[in-house]
Amino acid sequence: MKSLGLSFPFMIAPMVGISHVAFRELVRSYTPVGLNALRFTEMLSTRKLPSERLHTTRELRVSEGETHFVPQLLGNEEAFIAPSVKKLMQLSPWGFDINMGCPQSHVLRHNWGVRLMGDASYAADVVSMVKRHSPVPVSVKLRGGADKDLDVKYLKDFTHALESAGADWITIHARPRTAKHEGPANWNIVGEIASARKIPVVANGDIQTAQDALTVMREFGCAGAMIARAATARPWIFWQIAEDLGLDVKPPGRESELAPRTPAEEAQEFYRAFLRLIDLVEFYFGEGDGVEEYGLQKLRFFAATASKWFMFGHSFWRLTTKSKTFDEMRERVAHYVATTEQSMIDRV
Ligand SMILES: Cc1cc2nc3c(=O)[nH]c(=O)nc-3n(C[C@H](O)[C@H](O)[C@H](O)COP(=O)(O)O)c2cc1C
Repeated sequence: MKSLGLSFPFMIAPMVGISHVAFRELVRSYTPVGLNALRFTEMLSTRKLPSERLHTTRELRVSEGETHFVPQLLGNEEAFIAPSVKKLMQLSPWGFDINMGCPQSHVLRHNWGVRLMGDASYAADVVSMVKRHSPVPVSVKLRGGADKDLDVKYLKDFTHALESAGADWITIHARPRTAKHEGPANWNIVGEIASARKIPVVANGDIQTAQDALTVMREFGCAGAMIARAATARPWIFWQIAEDLGLDVKPPGRESELAPRTPAEEAQEFYRAFLRLIDLVEFYFGEGDGVEEYGLQKLRFFAATASKWFMFGHSFWRLTTKSKTFDEMRERVAHYVATTEQSMIDRV
């Protein structure tokens, strides 16, 4: 990723309902100063973007002066892609990503997402469309298999078409479509494709720890690592990676500390992070009638995703579902932390 100006090639994946501005800010607060790790937005429909308003649409919100974020686009028609890219450029994104991995039925109906993997020349056309309008790097996030098997030969041809169309880099979620987000990912295949391509190829899928992120690069030859679900449990993962790389950098305000490491340290940090996330969600989404429920839903969904990494995680998630206001959620979390033994596991 050095060719694209990124010396720290680790990133947070797009996740619908999670990769909003408050979560991106939480990750940023744990990212050592100067590392510029990328953070993706959730997928954004280019059919809707042209009529949406940047400052009032919640999914399009960015923080003051936010840099190194990457909006992820869903789409395949230039008439919608061109104005979408133009509008988002007002926010100064670092780059754009094209979603070629989503298997949800409403996405497939429009021939977006993983459907694009069914036709390499069509997918390449979509890359060319975004490239024609984007002054910043354009990537593609795709699946290791459009159906139930991972097919290296097909992936090689497909990624060749994307590279020839001008994609600046590619991320491969190394699971087939039918595996959804479950089970082990095949990092080997990502490495094989990385060695066949000139552009950087980043691994995604089942990267849960700082060591996993380094392994996909050092042992499998990938150009970088993209972390999705584990970043909800471990939003300080960039801090751990930086330490493991021997970099002498710290997150803002944590200059004299080491990253949380033990099961107890990580669990304690998680609840601190969750309380901070409530503040951030309230700050970014807390104004106006009926919006508290919107923010609470985001927090519950985040808790449901992260809780898998915690002993008694299910009871933590349950308390978020019972909380009817931000303040009630804060109180319940504080009580839970004071009365429950805390421990986090490395991998689920
Ligand atoms: C709740 C959730 C929402 C997701 N939304 C998106 C999305 O909008 N765009 C996308 O390309 N992938 C999406 N994904 C897939 C992730 O980006 C990632 O490819 C997948 O979770 C595998 O990585 P992991 O094993 O690190 O979780 C989503 C995954 C989850 C769990």
